[in-house]
Amino acid sequence: MLSAETVDVKFGVTYALSEATVEAHEAQVTGLIGPNGAGKTTLFNVITGLQAPTRGRVTIDGEDVTNLKPHIRARKRVARTFQRLEVFGSLTARENILVACEIRNQWDSTSEDPRTVADEILDRVGLREVGNQPVDAMPTGLARLVELGRALAIRPKLLLLDEPGSGLDSSETLGLGQLLTELAEDGMAILLVEHDVELVMRISKEIYVLDFGRVIAHGTPGEVKDNADVQAAYLGAEVPA
Ligand SMILES: Nc1ncnc2c1ncn2[C@@H]1O[C@H](COP(=O)(O)OP(=O)(O)OP(=O)(O)O)[C@@H](O)[C@H]1O
Ligand SMILES: [Mg+2]
Repeated sequence: MLSAETVDVKFGVTYALSEATVEAHEAQVTGLIGPNGAGKTTLFNVITGLQAPTRGRVTIDGEDVTNLKPHIRARKRVARTFQRLEVFGSLTARENILVACEIRNQWDSTSEDPRTVADEILDRVGLREVGNQPVDAMPTGLARLVELGRALAIRPKLLLLDEPGSGLDSSETLGLGQLLTELAEDGMAILLVEHDVELVMRISKEIYVLDFGRVIAHGTPGEVKDNADVQAAYLGAEVPA
C-alpha cells in the first residue's frame, strides 16, 4: 500500500532521513520505532506531503505521489494523526468527526449520511457516550481517540499514527492495541510510530527501526528485538562483539 523509497531529507547540513526505505502493507500493522530525533515524524511528513524529500520517492497503492499536495494524497485515502495532538478543541468529539465526514463528502461520491458515519465511528473508537463533550474538556487519552476517529472518517486505506499511545493509561493502551488490530484485520495498512515498544511489538507484523535518519533494522518483532544494532541504539551502549 505504501512504499517510501530511499528517502533523504536534509535540514541545513544535517540529514533527518538518509536513504530510508519503508513499506506498509494492507491488513497489517507495521511498526516504526527509534530514539528521539530519529526521523519518524519527518518520514510521516514526507509520506503525507507536508515535507518534500531531498531525494527519494513515495508511492501509494502503486502510484507515485511524491509531487502531490497533502490534500490530494488524503483523497487517495491516506490519513494520519499527529504527535502533538491536532483536534478542534472547542468542538465536541462528534463534531470533530462530523467535520471530517462532511469534507470527505465534498470529494467522495458517497451517498452515506455524514451523521450516520460519524456515529458509526464514535462507536468504533468507543466514544459514543462522550460524543457530545467538547474535546478540550477530555483527558488526553480520549482526545487522541477523537483524532483517530477523525482520521477514520475518510475511510483510509493507509493510516499513519504518530505516537497514539502517548498520554494513555495502561487500560486505554490495551484498548488502542485491540482497536488497531481490528482495523488491520479489516484490511487497513497501518504504520505505527510509538515509543511504547511493548505495544508495537505486540501488534505489529513487522517493524522498522530508524536511528539518525537511517533504517538500521527491519523484520519481525522477534528479529528486531534480538538485533544488536537496535539494542545499541536504544541503550546507547556498545554491544560487545
Ligand atoms: N523543520 C525542521 N527543521 C530543521 N530540523 C528539523 C525539522 N524537523 C525535524 N528536524 C530535525 O530532524 C531530526 C528528526 O526529527 P523528527 O521529529 O523526525 O524525529 P522523531 O523520530 O519523530 O523524534 P521524536 O521521537 O522525538 O518525535 C531531528 O534532529 C530534528 O531536530
Ligand atoms: Mg516524532
